[in-house]
Amino acid sequence: MSEKRKLIIDTDCGSDDAVAIAMALHDENYEVIMITTVCGNVPIQQATENTLTTLEYSNTYFPDVYRGCDKPLLAPWKGSRDTHGDDGMGDLGFHSTRLKAREGHAVLKILEALRENEAGSIDIVTLGPLTNLAMAIRLERDTVLRARRVVVMGSTGLGHGNVTPAAEFNIWQDAHAARIVLEAGFDDLMLVGWDACLGDAILDEREIEMIRNSSELGRFCIDSNRVLMSLNKRRFGRDCLDMADPAAMAAALYPQCIDRCERYYAEIETAEGPSFGSVVLDYYGFTGQSANVAVCSKLKSAEFREYLFRTLGVNK
Ligand code: BDR
Ligand code: CA
Repeated sequence: MSEKRKLIIDTDCGSDDAVAIAMALHDENYEVIMITTVCGNVPIQQATENTLTTLEYSNTYFPDVYRGCDKPLLAPWKGSRDTHGDDGMGDLGFHSTRLKAREGHAVLKILEALRENEAGSIDIVTLGPLTNLAMAIRLERDTVLRARRVVVMGSTGLGHGNVTPAAEFNIWQDAHAARIVLEAGFDDLMLVGWDACLGDAILDEREIEMIRNSSELGRFCIDSNRVLMSLNKRRFGRDCLDMADPAAMAAALYPQCIDRCERYYAEIETAEGPSFGSVVLDYYGFTGQSANVAVCSKLKSAEFREYLFRTLGVNK
């Protein structure tokens, strides 16, 4: 690729978001033009602070960071303390010593960037609830459709939920926003399901140690995920890391690592009840509706690792 592709990352920066952001910043084919924050894993102020900390540890270049929506559109904020800790980063006191967020609202800044750049020149990757993107669509849908593609870490893929039997956290935390995004009419919208980071994509103890011992950034990436690791010990019975946001980032920036991705017509369940926040995929085409989304449900584990290790600077 001769010219770098422009990328906006929208994040509720918890510990796996941090790894994904570090990966993108080290990908020489992309320029992260801004990072926008959203309430999700942690409140907006903490998500913003964690993003700045991640920029500092990544120590590459320093895209502008803008604070976005501080609540889901309608649903109550629940957060994910059990997955990422109170501060979203394993409660180890990681914080930025010198960086500050810029003035201006994330939603307006996303629109500004899409308006000012040529249509089809910006990719968006979302790593948290879709509140900011939905707000941008509500304000200026045509402007948002100028994005070349949107890749969302969200949905259960073809598998099961991680916050309820039926739902994955990012979609569930703001299901109304997810519905707006799915109904917006994107030509190229991909959901990377939680199942894409499971199975062979899960990092084992040896790989975790390799990353931790590789550099200060490696240590930050692993230690900040310590609460996730203890959750995994309980739910998977071993020390391991499921890297949801890194899986989405890899699928977005290094599509060679995608093993399974198909297009479907999908709807978001927003009615209260056991299926709230689930993505209902029309797998067999019952509705007769045209596909509105691609769903990535599996990564090639070797390619995913190669990209993850390369961008984090880990020598195997
Ligand atoms: C998603 O929810 C959060 O816990 C992670 O950061 C990821 O974005 C996984 O369901
Ligand atoms: Ca996230």
